[in-house]
Amino acid sequence: MARGKEKGRPEGRPYPSRRKFLKSVGGAAAVAVAIPKLGGGLLGAAQVLEQAPEARARKRVPIRLRVNGSVYALQVEPRWTLLDVLRNHLHLTGAKKVCDRAECGACTVLVGDKSASGSSAGKPAHDKVELPAKESLAGKPVYACMMLALEANDREIVTIEGLAQGGRLHPVQEAFLRNDALQCGFCTPGMILAVKALLERTPKPSLEEIRQGISGNLCKCGTYTKIFRAAREAGEMMRSGQSGRQVAARAGAWEARLFPSPSRAGR
Ligand code: FES
Ligand code: FES
Repeated sequence: MARGKEKGRPEGRPYPSRRKFLKSVGGAAAVAVAIPKLGGGLLGAAQVLEQAPEARARKRVPIRLRVNGSVYALQVEPRWTLLDVLRNHLHLTGAKKVCDRAECGACTVLVGDKSASGSSAGKPAHDKVELPAKESLAGKPVYACMMLALEANDREIVTIEGLAQGGRLHPVQEAFLRNDALQCGFCTPGMILAVKALLERTPKPSLEEIRQGISGNLCKCGTYTKIFRAAREAGEMMRSGQSGRQVAARAGAWEARLFPSPSRAGR
């Protein structure tokens, strides 16, 4: 039907275009939404936007992250997780984003207590940052996908990239390699950090304690037996200061006890 020729429409009143119609309906709806929210007052569009959760989330706040011995001053959105900041802003991609909901442990990093000294202590730059309660984490494994970057403000963080020192692998890394305790490797950074944290708490763990220690980390490739063996060997290395090769040479006794092979079991 041609516009303006609609039956019953008065002469000289042009038929409104679709654009005009939508604009007027949209404007009315915006006013209807704005008025109850503002208790009778009317805000400009900029102010309404300013109040939207999206806009609030985009405001950035200053934080200071201490990662692997380096200090980073960052501006972050309050909704950003520690994992996203590590991966997307500091380019430390060792911690993996797999489930993103505290199920797999691939994003595990070690988070320590707040720094008591150092350049950031008591600095007014953090006045606007909502600081978390002073709980002690003391190098605990944490799911970085479940921790806000804000909560990590001024805490010591260790990622897999920070484990090797002076070009030497950490004993846990060495033991994982020696024991071939990985397949696809997706769980490996988190597993290694979980094992490191376990060995710092329990230098000589039993098999059950190793199981408990890595119970928050899943390996979809099913390399658990080798991971247990690597954890045990790394513990020996850390306690004795010996190399993995030396430890493995005298590992026969406890290996046979912990991991009886079918042939041994039948003896
Ligand atoms: S990505 Fe799976 S627990 Fe964080
Ligand atoms: S080695 Fe593939 S998930 Fe563990």
